[in-house]
Amino acid sequence: MTIALPFRRLYSSKVWLARQAKDPYVKLAKESNFRARSSFKLIQIDKKYSIFQKNDIVVDCGAAPGGWTQVAARKVGRQGLVVGIDLLPVEPFSTKDQNIQLIEGNFMTTKTQKKIKDMLNGQYVNVVLTDMAPNFSGNHLRDHARSIELCESVLTFAKANLLPGGHFIAKFLAGGTEGEFKRKLQSEFQKVMYVKPDASRKQSSEGYYVAMDFKPSATKTESNENDE
Ligand SMILES: C[S@@+](CC[C@H](N)C(=O)[O-])C[C@H]1O[C@@H](n2cnc3c(N)ncnc32)[C@H](O)[C@@H]1O
Repeated sequence: MTIALPFRRLYSSKVWLARQAKDPYVKLAKESNFRARSSFKLIQIDKKYSIFQKNDIVVDCGAAPGGWTQVAARKVGRQGLVVGIDLLPVEPFSTKDQNIQLIEGNFMTTKTQKKIKDMLNGQYVNVVLTDMAPNFSGNHLRDHARSIELCESVLTFAKANLLPGGHFIAKFLAGGTEGEFKRKLQSEFQKVMYVKPDASRKQSSEGYYVAMDFKPSATKTESNENDE
């Protein structure tokens, strides 16, 4: 029997509300003035691997509603910079968060990547983050493939824009080809770790690769030299 769509929607929004009410990270996010419970995933990753330093420049892909952007901005301090990009509008931060710049656009387009470069104004980046997730289609293999495609696109950006020794955190939906993506990371970074932070729901297929200490290839070093 097919269940009528409005009933299914009502049921799943009730399940979502019940889950939110019981979730300790939802409560903690409110108390700590974070926009999303996902902030705690990044806090937990940073606690384990010390990703951020004061004054860092960070690019945060898939920033809405702004939970990771807030964490990164607090870590890098007023002299740092966090550029947050999302397809969706991110509600502006208060004027005291002057170290945050937001771009509304599709990261996968040259137009948006040019906006990021313009905002960076020739500066290389210490940390690149992607928490982007595709719109769920209901077909897990398709969503997995799309998620890896997003990761690959951010890796290409990271390779061109990270400083030597820089770090990269990528969220992916597990599904079979993430090992291949991990091998690509291993050829660009000294260390690559898989993490499933405590704040990431057990039933979710999401996982994170934390890639540390970027080692630029000879080609990039040459092209940087040509830029000068
Ligand atoms: C899980 S949410 C990010 C949550 C965010 N890190 C936070 O802590 O508030 C994933 C985001 O990725 C964004 N996204 C997905 N594909 C994108 C793309 N191609 N370009 C920019 N943003 C994208 C979605 O709009 C969505 O807001």
